[in-house]
Amino acid sequence: MTNPWLEIPLSDYESHMALRTIGQAEMLASQFSDALLQFMPESVAVIGCAGGNGFDRIPATVKRVVGVDINPSYVAAASARYLGHIPGLELHAVDIQSGPSPLAPVDLIYAALVFEFVSLPAALGNLSRVCRPGGRLVSVLQQPSAHVHAVSPSPYPSLQALVPLMRLLPPAELAACAAFCGFALESEETLVLASGKEFVRQVFRTAPGRPTSRSRRTDGSL
Ligand SMILES: C[S@@+](CC[C@H](N)C(=O)[O-])C[C@H]1O[C@@H](n2cnc3c(N)ncnc32)[C@H](O)[C@@H]1O
Repeated sequence: MTNPWLEIPLSDYESHMALRTIGQAEMLASQFSDALLQFMPESVAVIGCAGGNGFDRIPATVKRVVGVDINPSYVAAASARYLGHIPGLELHAVDIQSGPSPLAPVDLIYAALVFEFVSLPAALGNLSRVCRPGGRLVSVLQQPSAHVHAVSPSPYPSLQALVPLMRLLPPAELAACAAFCGFALESEETLVLASGKEFVRQVFRTAPGRPTSRSRRTDGSL
């Protein structure tokens, strides 16, 4: 089955996320910006970067920026918008569930609303090799709600193709799988939007001295 993300036009995705009733684009960009200010990484990877939401808030202290998305047309749009404007920008059309990946390790990985769409063991196994020793993974997970649809109804029906793929994850499930892959939970907080949708932001850290990336292969990828 084709991954539905490959069939959703970026303009539909971005217009949906920017709707005032949904308001998620701004929240995700703010969380990214906050993580950069809090952890001051020299290198960052944005997993599921779409068209580069939040890239305009990257401070000059970040020397290397890696954007990753499964959809090559999203990566092409991010490239047209930001290549030449952000020093050290690399963009990769990659499925984070499978390798090999061209990503060299970074200090901070930001993964917002992407774990809902992938196999956790495969994705986290790969990301553990993309994070430097002592580096961090910041994730934002959407939470279930009795009153709000997982994929909000909007004038962009292409987004509804995500419904069968999307799985809202308990934060404890992500934390358990992350721990297995070498990411220890450092902090967790709940975010609530005006729409009533709830999200959980988790920060994970890898051990300062652990072996990284290409030397630790558990599932044959990367
Ligand atoms: C809900 S969007 C989040 C986008 C972004 N974080 C933002 O601020 O708008 C999920 C993104 O993850 C990408 N994605 C989904 N599955 C992926 C995979 N297996 N590997 C890489 N990217 C993936 C999608 O193409 C999409 O751009």
